[in-house]
Amino acid sequence: MQLTRTGPIKIALIHGPNLNMLGVRDPDIYGKDDFATVNQKIQRHAKHLSLEVSIQQSNSEGAIIDFVQDAMSWANAIVINPGAYTHYSYAIRDAIADSRLPTIEVHLTNVHAREEFRRHSVISPAVTGQIVGFGPHSYLLALEAAKNLIEESHR
Ligand code: DQA
Repeated sequence: MQLTRTGPIKIALIHGPNLNMLGVRDPDIYGKDDFATVNQKIQRHAKHLSLEVSIQQSNSEGAIIDFVQDAMSWANAIVINPGAYTHYSYAIRDAIADSRLPTIEVHLTNVHAREEFRRHSVISPAVTGQIVGFGPHSYLLALEAAKNLIEESHR
């Protein structure tokens, strides 16, 4: 059966804890761009790709779960940087799995080359794929991956 889709592809982009502190937070690791600048880059690239992207950030696990659950009613895909919750939040992992939405896990840094505790993601088994290590550009690559996934699923 041919699936049809109308209107722009919609992406829920979720930033987890401490990402609102970008620019201030250890710039040698996380870069000099502040949070507003990163989000501007995301929105500029979204426009270029003809995507509709809603950006949300929270420092709380429950709020992030609420964002994921809310996305189920309107989004075609999720792009999420769960911050440190990546390494231990089974609740966020369950929310993503339950959403059944294509989901891309993003990290600014190459978590696999950092401290031991950052090398393990409890989120990864529930996502479609992971993009790590490209700074703010990781988010832009994730938008492209999300667009490709949605378009391929409707061909
Ligand atoms: C991060 C990596 C996490 O280990 C860390 O706790 C973050 C940011 C990243 O984008 O590289 O807050 O998710």
